Amino acid sequence: MQAAARLAVLSGQLAPAPCAAGGPAAPPNKRSRMFEGQVVLITGAGKGIGEAAALMFAEHGASGLVLSDLDAAALADVAARASALGARVETAAGDVTAAEGVAAIVAAAGRMGRLDVLVNNAGFTWDGVIHKMSPEQWDKMLQVHVTAPFRLIQALAPLIRDAAKAEAERDGRAAPRSIINISSTSGTHGNAGQANYAAGKAAVVGLTKTVAKEWGPLNVRANAIAFGLIDTRLTRPKEGGETILVDGRPVALGIPGADSMRQLAEMAAPLQRVGSARDAAGAILSLASEWSSYVTGQVLEVNGGTYM
Ligand SMILES: NC(=O)c1ccc[n+]([C@@H]2O[C@H](COP(=O)([O-])OP(=O)(O)OC[C@H]3O[C@@H](n4cnc5c(N)ncnc54)[C@H](O)[C@@H]3O)[C@@H](O)[C@H]2O)c1
Repeated sequence: MQAAARLAVLSGQLAPAPCAAGGPAAPPNKRSRMFEGQVVLITGAGKGIGEAAALMFAEHGASGLVLSDLDAAALADVAARASALGARVETAAGDVTAAEGVAAIVAAAGRMGRLDVLVNNAGFTWDGVIHKMSPEQWDKMLQVHVTAPFRLIQALAPLIRDAAKAEAERDGRAAPRSIINISSTSGTHGNAGQANYAAGKAAVVGLTKTVAKEWGPLNVRANAIAFGLIDTRLTRPKEGGETILVDGRPVALGIPGADSMRQLAEMAAPLQRVGSARDAAGAILSLASEWSSYVTGQVLEVNGGTYM
């Protein structure tokens, strides 16, 4: 955005361009077969970044997708669209913070029989300043952002670590596998009002680096992506009334007065815009791809250049 246009946005004369959660599909002539033969598991695939990633992996040839989400209707919709792009899809509706939710995901992955890419993406925000944060608010953010990814990685070890070990023993080298954990610039830089979220998103970085060290000898890469401001319901105005059910109770999503915060974010980012869900998904596919075959244990910051 040019300086004059940015000033116009700031003074309320222009609205920033809206961006659909999943974004437009790539036209067929822009699709590759990069992930052909691979099975990709994505949690939180019903909306936002996970939805965009599921569709993008399907556009780029993924043979199998294991998709999971708390929101069964949104999940079914994304699964149908990914199937229409040619992928075999297995779904597991449920909560990643519940033992049954993890078991359903593992069963769905088991039906595929192999797993090449795991994207731990499911998550939400439950903001509050430190002196007002409830124990439940704190615990839930650690559960969803670091305990659930740990449990899933552990439960999927037979399809990732053990399968790689068997291949290495049989063939001398295991096929490439990749784990991508979704962090946030709140985790890497802190953010007022998000002590719980920031702590969970920082903790998942430690988990990522440890997996990279333990399973790297088996050709399993593990990286985290710290997103900045991406246009999804988590960063839209709280006044929009979006909620998520946490243990059966609605928790409000979004940011109070998000529009002015987004405008400031556009000013601060050298790329001068908020990221789209497809911008975010592109980073996930890049790290999962063979072009990143020597990248592991890293935290990729995807924020339009806001932090360097
Ligand atoms: N949007 C951003 O600016 C931003 C920035 C940094 C990190 N992130 C992270 O990216 C990830 C995706 O967020 P998004 O912005 O696409 O949000 P979103 O709300 O659009 O999508 C998240 C999806 O995860 C699902 N989900 C949430 N909690 C779950 C649970 N306990 N079990 C199963 N599914 C669950 C939701 O139902 C939803 O479909 C999250 O981990 C989020 O923290 C987002």
